[in-house]
Amino acid sequence: MSYGKLLGAGTAVALVIATAGFAGSHAVKSSNATVAARHNQMQMVGYHIGVLGAVAKGEMAYDAAMVEAAAKNLAALATMERATLWAEGTEQGAADLSRAKAEIWQEPDAFAAKFKALEEASLAMVGAADAAAVGAAMGPLGGACKGCHEQFRGPKIE
Ligand code: HEC
Repeated sequence: MSYGKLLGAGTAVALVIATAGFAGSHAVKSSNATVAARHNQMQMVGYHIGVLGAVAKGEMAYDAAMVEAAAKNLAALATMERATLWAEGTEQGAADLSRAKAEIWQEPDAFAAKFKALEEASLAMVGAADAAAVGAAMGPLGGACKGCHEQFRGPKIE
């Protein structure tokens, strides 16, 4: 693989990470157990895409088993049952530190479709044969985060 190709993948990954809003976490834990639990779900999602991003950028050595594990864990997180984690009545304004938009419960099919998109983008990462392939699969993966955040995540809490 050429250095230029690797650099290209790294730039794309940096862009994906910058635009998907991964940095939106906070040090304080929600006093609402449901909100705290789904924040943990999202933190786990962020951790695993971070592993893949590090491989794509060449910061972590490519390891087929690690890539597959990260991709499969992402898919598993995307398929978690939503009833407990995304319980009604925990939207932004109603529950401490929640940035979940009320639309999540008004348009449950659209919200489910966004998790489906994350699952599919994660499974597409399974079998990525080298760092460049991981980089190539990062775009759709980051797009799945962004697509949901833009529609269903509310404004930052100051
Ligand atoms: C199906 C929708 C959906 C998808 C897909 C999604 N997110 Fe989220 N994410 C949300 C919502 C909604 C919130 C706000 C939840 C809240 O504050 O209660 C959130 C919050 C977060 C947070 C903040 C967690 C915290 O501790 O406050 C991080 C980090 C995050 N997402 C990362 C990601 C990453 C990385 C991806 C993609 C790999 C992703 N998300 C995919 C809906 C989604």
